[in-house]
Amino acid sequence: MKSIRNIVFLGMMGSGKSSIGKLVSKKLKIFFFDIDKYIEKNLKMEIAEIFKNKGENFFRKYEKKITLQILKKKHIIIALGGGAFLNKDVRQEILSKHTSFWLDCDEKIIIQRIINNPRRPLAYGMSEDEIIKLCKKRSKIYAKADFRINCSNLTKTQIVNKILNIYETNKIKN
Ligand code: S3P
Repeated sequence: MKSIRNIVFLGMMGSGKSSIGKLVSKKLKIFFFDIDKYIEKNLKMEIAEIFKNKGENFFRKYEKKITLQILKKKHIIIALGGGAFLNKDVRQEILSKHTSFWLDCDEKIIIQRIINNPRRPLAYGMSEDEIIKLCKKRSKIYAKADFRINCSNLTKTQIVNKILNIYETNKIKN
């Protein structure tokens, strides 16, 4: 029987939620949904423009609404935005009804991937120390996910295989 639970990828900006989510989706032949992309399409604006024109508060409210709406779909793979799981309602919904994977990457890798990137408005202008602080603060919450995948020193294929292994060895509740 098909699981009605969705598979949810969460973690810091630059942790690979979208790229790993897409690869797992191909392997499992389960539809993939990228929340950030969906928000951009809906509002016809890039995330950076939304932050600039409407502000972070607006973005967070909209992100919460869209994420809860998408979570109602059945049997899909979802890549969250990096901040979505920090919202209590979103987190409770995911933890109670879905299967979540935290893609945990070394802070140095995250820094390399996101520093000074205007497409990542929250981290744009942050120093390395500030990014490390943000990673540490968020890790405590990301750690509530069902599974933590330590992505440091692994290739994308190895990360995907780890996830598929967890999925296939039936550790996932239906
Ligand atoms: C954010 C992460 C971004 C995007 C927004 C805020 C965050 O998504 O939702 O810029 O607070 O971590 P990615 O994690 O896909 O970069």
